[in-house]
Amino acid sequence: MASASFAPSGPLRGSLRPPPDKSISHRAAIVGAMCEGTLRVEGYLDAADTRSTLEAVRALGAEVRELGSESVPGGVDLEIEGVGLRGPGQRAGDGPVAIDVGNAGTLMRLLPGWLAGQERGSWVLDGDSSIRRRPVDRIVVPLAEMGARAEAEGGLPPLRIDGSALRGTTYRMPVASAQVKSCVLLAGLLADGETTVIEPAPTRDHTERMLAAAGAELRSEPAGTPVALRGRLPGGRITVVAAERLGLEHQPVPADISSGAFALVAALLVRGSQVTVTDVGLNPTRIGLLGILNRMGASIEVTEGLALAGEPRGAVAARHGAPLAAARVGEGDVPLTIDELPLVALVGCFAEGETVVSGAGELRHKESDRIASVVEGLAGLGAEIEATDDGFAVSGTAGLRGGTLDSRGDHRLAMLGAVAGLASREGVRVDGFEAAGISYPGFEADLANLAG
Ligand code: S3P
Repeated sequence: MASASFAPSGPLRGSLRPPPDKSISHRAAIVGAMCEGTLRVEGYLDAADTRSTLEAVRALGAEVRELGSESVPGGVDLEIEGVGLRGPGQRAGDGPVAIDVGNAGTLMRLLPGWLAGQERGSWVLDGDSSIRRRPVDRIVVPLAEMGARAEAEGGLPPLRIDGSALRGTTYRMPVASAQVKSCVLLAGLLADGETTVIEPAPTRDHTERMLAAAGAELRSEPAGTPVALRGRLPGGRITVVAAERLGLEHQPVPADISSGAFALVAALLVRGSQVTVTDVGLNPTRIGLLGILNRMGASIEVTEGLALAGEPRGAVAARHGAPLAAARVGEGDVPLTIDELPLVALVGCFAEGETVVSGAGELRHKESDRIASVVEGLAGLGAEIEATDDGFAVSGTAGLRGGTLDSRGDHRLAMLGAVAGLASREGVRVDGFEAAGISYPGFEADLANLAG
C-alpha cells in the first residue's frame, strides 16, 4: 500500500483539462462492442476502471485498437470493432466465460444488461474485494422480470448470467441509479417489444444519449410533475424499443467534471487560489455540485462551450475568497451529485453553520461505504462531522488540523484526503493513495502543477 503526503499549500493557480469522463468512457466501450462496424473513441479514459471495460469487451470478441494517447491528457484514442447486438456468444458445451470487472461498478451493472439477452452464452462476472461487497440484486430483479437468468448468491458478486430470450417490461426503480437504468435499457434493446424504466429522480443520462446516436429508438418523458413531488425535479420515464442493429462512428469524450471537482474544491479552500477546469462535461445530470457550491456562496463561474456528440461541455472556474455558508443537501440533489458528496463534506468543514446531507443512503454502496469512510476519514483530520443513516452533518468552520486518512481502496477517498491536506493546517498523509489511479492516474501531478 502506497502513501502520499499533501502539505498545506500555497495558492493554486492555472487551468487544467481533467482526465476523460469515466461514465462516458465505460459506455463508449460497451456500446462500441454492441455496434456493427468501427467506432472511433476520441480521448477514452486511460485508467484502471475503464481498462477493465476494454478487457471485458475484448473477452466478448470486440477488437480494440489503441491509436495513441496524445490527443487529451489522461486519454487514449481507440477504434473498437463491434461484434453486433447479438454477437457475444460461445459454442455449445463450453463453460461460462469469466469476466473480471476489477473495481468497476459501472461495468458490473451495465454489461449484464447486454449479456442477459444472448441466447448462446453463459458468463460469470466477478471483481475485487470492493466489488464483492457491492449489491447486484438491484439488476438481477429487473432482469429476472424480463425473463433473464441471472444469479448472485446473497445479491452480491460473482454474478452468473445464462443468456435467454427477453421480454419487454416496465420497471419502476426503487432507487435512483443510472447504472440500473442503463442495464435495463441495454437489455431492452434485445427484448420483445418495448421496455420502460421509471426513475424516482433524474439520473445521469449518458446511456440514452449514446444509444440514440447509435440509432436506437428511445423516448424520454418526465415521470411526474414538480408540484406533485414537492418541488423536486421529476425523474424520467424512458422507453427503448427492441433494435436490430446499432452503429456509431465517432464518440468524443469530454473531461470528467467529477475528477475536475477535486481541483475546483481545492481552489475554493486554499487562500489565493484561482483554478479553471476546461472542456469538462456539463450534462445537467452531472453538475449538482456546482448548484450546491453556488448555494454555499462559492465563487464559481461556468462558461458553456459547444456540445459535442450530444454532450454539453465547457469550462468551470473557481476562486478562493468568498465566505462559505452551510447548505442543506436533500434527496432531490443526491443523484446529480452522488460522486461529489464527499467533497460537499469537505467544503462543509470550511462553511459557516451546519451542512447536512440526507437522502444519500446510496453512498453506503459505493467503492467503500462512503458515509462511514468520509465521516471517519474527515473526523480523523479534526472535522466536526457525524454520520446519519442516510448522510452526514458537518459543522464548519474550525477548518481542518490534518493527520492521516486511509483511502480504504476508494479512489474518491484518496483524492479527498489529498485536497483536505492542501487546505489543512498540518498536512495529510493518505494511506492507499494508489487507489486514485482507478479514475485519475495523473491526479497528484496535476495538483503539483497548479501549486506551481
Ligand atoms: C455511474 C452512476 C452512479 C455513480 C457511478 C457511475 C454511471 O452510480 O455513482 O460512479 O456511470 O452510471 P449509481 O447509478 O448506481 O448511483
